Amino acid sequence: MTYQVIIPAAGQGKRMGAGKNKLLLELNSIPVFIHSLKVFEEDELCDGIILAIHPQDEAEFNSLLKKHGVKKVLELAPGGKERQDSIYNALKTVKTDGIILVHDAARPFILKEHIHRLLETAQETGAAIIGVPAKDTMKTVRDDVVMATVERSSLWAVQTPQAFRFSLLYRAYQQAEKDGFIGTDDSSLVERISHPVTMVEGDYDNIKLTTQEDLFFAQAILQKRQGSF
Ligand code: CTP
Ligand code: MG
Repeated sequence: MTYQVIIPAAGQGKRMGAGKNKLLLELNSIPVFIHSLKVFEEDELCDGIILAIHPQDEAEFNSLLKKHGVKKVLELAPGGKERQDSIYNALKTVKTDGIILVHDAARPFILKEHIHRLLETAQETGAAIIGVPAKDTMKTVRDDVVMATVERSSLWAVQTPQAFRFSLLYRAYQQAEKDGFIGTDDSSLVERISHPVTMVEGDYDNIKLTTQEDLFFAQAILQKRQGSF
């Protein structure tokens, strides 16, 4: 079974402090968002990409898509105020009722093998997300005082992609809009309409480029993958 993927790319990259959209920064001379799209471009099971971008970035993104041979972009949806708004705008353009993935343009290291594992799970259960078990001891803290130590074995760090049956995800977004709920991922919207979400174990390399030091980790991951680390 095939799928389509929504890729939100309409952020401002404030925490990166690069003076421009962090997705245009280059790794090995290729913009970050192109790395994130390439895996889907090259995945035979992906039959379309919906990219959410700011309308003022359209010309630049389009020329980079062309330059790097990305041909699967079906729609450019306008970015919104929050990530969730950008994804909702993209969801409104979807014309299929199959599996929809949502993947942050700021995560350039997702592997095809993990996408397929996620897809298979979402086909069975309707909702699946990728993540990794927490490595550090985790505590809740208030006003610099430790409140509790949370049992680590039940904690996972959540990444993207996240995969859902389109009708389920759309319903979750409609309900969130109605309730004025803003979540930090798509799964949280689906969880609150009481649909179970299955966790699929991914890998620690699937980082999101958020702050400057992530660029050093990104270089190390690239070198590791090129066998020169
Ligand atoms: N994103 C989006 N629309 C927004 C905000 C974010 O499409 N209104 C996208 C980003 O481009 C990124 C993904 O959502 O690919 C994850 O967001 P994040 O890592 O927070 O990126 P930014 O919002 O750009 O960064 P910051 O929060 O530091 O400004
Ligand atoms: Mg953000």
